[in-house]
Amino acid sequence: MCGIVGYIGKQKASTIILEGLKRLEYRGYDSAGVATQVNGGFELAKKIGRVDGLMKATRAQKLPGTTGIGHTRWATHGGVTDANAHPHISSDQKIAMIHNGVIENYVGIKKFLLTKGYTFQSETDTEVLCNLLAYHYQKEPANAEGSRFLEAVRKTLRHIEGTYGIAVMCADCPAEIVSARKGSPLILGVGDGEYMLASDVSAIISRTQNVVYLKDGEIVHLTAKNFTITTLESEDVSPVIDKVSWTIEAAEMGSYAHFMEKEIFEQPLALENTMRGRFSEDGSTAVFGGLNISAIDFRQVDRFHFIACGSAWHSCLVAEQLIERFARVPVEVDYASEFRYRNIPLSKNALFFAISQSGETIDTLAAMREAQRKGYKVLAINNVVGSTIAREADGGVYQHVGPEIGVASTKAFTSQLLVGAMLALYIGRMRDMSFSSGIEYVKALKGVPDLVRETLKLAPQIKDIANRYAHYHDFLFLGRLTLFPVALEGALKLKEISYIHAEGYPAAEMKHGPIALISEQCPSVFLVSSGEMFNKVLSSMQEIKARKGKIIAIVSANCELPEGLADEVIRIPECHEAALPIIATIPVQLLSYYITVALKLDVDKPRNLAKSVTVE
Ligand code: M6R
Repeated sequence: MCGIVGYIGKQKASTIILEGLKRLEYRGYDSAGVATQVNGGFELAKKIGRVDGLMKATRAQKLPGTTGIGHTRWATHGGVTDANAHPHISSDQKIAMIHNGVIENYVGIKKFLLTKGYTFQSETDTEVLCNLLAYHYQKEPANAEGSRFLEAVRKTLRHIEGTYGIAVMCADCPAEIVSARKGSPLILGVGDGEYMLASDVSAIISRTQNVVYLKDGEIVHLTAKNFTITTLESEDVSPVIDKVSWTIEAAEMGSYAHFMEKEIFEQPLALENTMRGRFSEDGSTAVFGGLNISAIDFRQVDRFHFIACGSAWHSCLVAEQLIERFARVPVEVDYASEFRYRNIPLSKNALFFAISQSGETIDTLAAMREAQRKGYKVLAINNVVGSTIAREADGGVYQHVGPEIGVASTKAFTSQLLVGAMLALYIGRMRDMSFSSGIEYVKALKGVPDLVRETLKLAPQIKDIANRYAHYHDFLFLGRLTLFPVALEGALKLKEISYIHAEGYPAAEMKHGPIALISEQCPSVFLVSSGEMFNKVLSSMQEIKARKGKIIAIVSANCELPEGLADEVIRIPECHEAALPIIATIPVQLLSYYITVALKLDVDKPRNLAKSVTVE
C-alpha cells in the first residue's frame, strides 16, 4: 500500500525516482508525485493516476536537483485528488514528506497544529505529520549538537501512533534526507556514490544490489557522502549491508504482455527454486534449514495454527488437509485479521505458521505478534527476503520464487502450496509415514515442475474458452477436499482482476444455497479428480446440468465424464494428491487471466487493490 522512493547522489533525482515509482506502482496507483530539492526550496509535481501520467505531465517541468523523494499512492485518508497526492509540503514550506502507512492520532494533532497557525491543503494524515515535523523543527534550537533536522524527526515520531515509512527533506538542509519506519517496509540501497530509499527492492535494483533492511523504530539520515542509522531513542545502529540475490531482469516483463502472464509461465522454475536443496539425501523426506526448532521439539507439537490472508489463506486450507491426512496432527486455519481478535484457546504445544508472500501484510503481522506475545513460536512461509514478517518470525521457509509483481498472486500461491505439501511430508515422516511412502511422496513433488509445464500447454485451449465465456457476469467454482481451496482461489483470481462476480464452494455445499444462482447465465467451473470423490462430484455436476447451468470441467486425465455432461473439458495430468492442488491451480489462473485480457482490463493493476496490504 503506497510505494516510496528517495534518491540522493550526483544524478538527476527525479528521473531515477520516477523509474523507481514505476516499479513500485503495484503497491498503489491512485496518484503519484515527486519533490526535489532546488535552491533552498522544493520543486513539486503530483497528479492523480499512474506514474506514466505524471511523467508526461512533468516533461516540461524539468524537476532538477540531485536530492528528491517520490510516492505512488493507495488512498486511505482522503479521496483520489491531486491535493491528496504525496509529497506534502508543510505550510511554512520547510518540510517535504512522503509516507506509507496510517497515522492514527492525526485528528488531535491537526487540532493542535491549527491553533499554532499551520494550514492544510489536503485531507491526508500525512500532511498532518509533515506539519508536526515543521513545528518541531522550528522549535529545535539552531545550535543543538548533531542535526537539528534529524532531532526534529525523532521528536515528531515519538508523538505518533500508527504506522509509517517516511522520507523527508528540509528546505534548510540541502542534500539531506531523513527516513524512518514503523510497521511499513523501508530499504536503503547503498550505490556507487549515491543512496536510495524504497519500500521494496524492485525500485532500486537497477542501481544497486546492496541493501540495508531497516527495522521498525530505526531512522536513517542520508547525506550525499554517507549515512547513519539510529533509533527513536537516539541509539546508534551498526548497519548490515545485504546483497540481493536477484537482478533487474526478474522484475521486468520481458516478452510477456503482463506480469501475471510472466509469473504464471514462470511457475515450473519458481517451484524448482522452492524445492531446491530441501529433500533429504535418502529422498524420503523434506529438510528445512531455517526452522530454528529442533526435530525433537517439532515432534512435540500437538496442533499447528496457520494464519494468513487472501490467496495465502487458501494455501493454508490445503496445507491443513495434507498435514492432517499425512501427519495426523490437527491443524487450525485462521484469517489473520480474525485470529487476533478471537482469542481462541491454545494448547501448550501449539506451533504457528504465518504465510505471506510479501511479508508485510499488516493483518498477518499483527496476528503473528499476538501469537508471539502469548509465548508461542511463529514460523513464516514468506517470499520477500528481509521483510518484516520474515525478520520477526522465530524461523521459517523462504519461497524463493523471485519478485511477484502482478497484483494477483500466482507463482507465490503455488509455491505456498508446495511448501505446505513439503511440511506435511516432513511432519508425516516424523510420525507414521513410512520410508517407502516418503520416497513416493518426494518423487511426486520433484515431478511437479514438469507437470506444471505440461499443464501450461493447455493455454491456447483455455484462452479459447475464456474468449467465449468472458461476457458472463457470475461464476461458481466448485471442488472437493484439496480442490475446494483451489475453487476459492479460482473465484478470487477471477473477481480481483476481471471484476466478474465469482464464488468458490465445496461442490456438495452448492445445493445448500448457491444452486439458486444457477441458470444459463451462471457457468460453473468444476475441479474434478479421480479418486473417492469422483462419483460425488459427478452428481453435483448433474444437478447443475439439470438446471441448464453451463459447466467448465477441469478434470484429471483418467476421469471419464458422461458424454455431454460438461460443456468444456480441460484435462490436467494425473498426479499424486499432494501435487494435485498445484496442478489444478494452473487452469484457473489461465482462465482468469485470459478472461481479463478479453475484457481489455488492466490485468496487473486491478482497481481498488494493492499488492501488499499494509493497513488493517
Ligand atoms: O503478501 P501476502 O501473501 O500476505 O498477501 C495476502 C493477500 O493480500 C494476497 O494473497 C491477495 O489476496 C492477492 N491479491 C491474491 O491474488
